[in-house]
Amino acid sequence: MPASESAAALDRAADVLRRGGLVAIPTETVYGLAANALDADAVAGIFRAKGRPSGNPLIVHVADAEQARSLAAAWPAAAAAVAASLWPGPATVVVPKAARVPGIVTAAGETVALRCPGHPVTRSLIERAGIPLAAPSANRAEALSPTTAQHVLASLGNRIDLILDAGSCDHGIESTVIDCTRSPPRILRPGPLSRATLEAALGGPVEWPGNLAPGPDKPGTERSPGQGRRHYAPATPLEIPPNAAARVAELLAAGQRVGWLVLAADERARALAASRELVVVPMPPEPIGYARQLYATLHALDQRQLDRIIVDLPPADETWAAIRDRLNRAAS
Ligand code: TXA
Ligand code: MG
Repeated sequence: MPASESAAALDRAADVLRRGGLVAIPTETVYGLAANALDADAVAGIFRAKGRPSGNPLIVHVADAEQARSLAAAWPAAAAAVAASLWPGPATVVVPKAARVPGIVTAAGETVALRCPGHPVTRSLIERAGIPLAAPSANRAEALSPTTAQHVLASLGNRIDLILDAGSCDHGIESTVIDCTRSPPRILRPGPLSRATLEAALGGPVEWPGNLAPGPDKPGTERSPGQGRRHYAPATPLEIPPNAAARVAELLAAGQRVGWLVLAADERARALAASRELVVVPMPPEPIGYARQLYATLHALDQRQLDRIIVDLPPADETWAAIRDRLNRAAS
């Protein structure tokens, strides 16, 4: 888009936001659905448009660390370290909330999640609007997060005021959320930034609780609000069976139409791909490329009237943790 046109689009979006409207914004992770974080009525519009339960708090997007501090009642050393070395970027800090943050943003909790996004379009939007933006992922509650403007249009198009289309999101999965109110800080939601990256930035250990995978909570371990089991799910039932090839063969034999996300497009997958009832999608064998394509792949398979989506089990190591987290939720 020519610079003058994008400037006009940004001015219009800033204007909609200042008047209390809803704008879908591109970020480096996924598209967000933004409203003025300091306007409780505007934020209520986000919950209505998404059908989001009021107990699920929102992330507030800021222009820089200074604006973040203005929304926090305290600024722990861990938050300062994230802001100094990982912002702008896909890291969200949870800190004590300032009184001026409306309770609807934090689901009545005493902490607020803050993130300074790296996407140039949204950075200039926040600067132009001059307000912090509350923005969850721009999808109906529990559904897949959007990584293109078309995804947003399909799920929320008639419920929001404007979509800023900046193409596909770079990371493709939601930000890493870090609870900075405790020491050592703890990862609440795994994301594009690994624990190793966080520990290097913070110069100390970061906790990685055993409860990141969905399942019954272990006593004494708490979850982030809103990290419910079923989340990030396609409409088509999704399974991650131990033996994907066998499960696919079984479903095809039962006359089902199957989509299959394969990590290694081996001979077996190629042979089965001859079936008209099977859609085989080879996925990148490393976590960064896999994350970038994951939601777009699931959105596309949801359009194909399949009975089932089968996913090859991703590797067990920590670099795949964020992907395993999203897949496990999609399967529950
Ligand atoms: O990458 C992202 O983080 C995207 C883009 C748009 O920035 N946003 C996003 O927002 O994923 P959402 O609403 O889909 O997820 C926000 C999650 C909540 O469900 C919750 O798990 C956690 O962030 N969260 C928000 N506020 C929190 C708080 N005060 N304490 C603990 N967790 C919180
Ligand atoms: Mg979401």
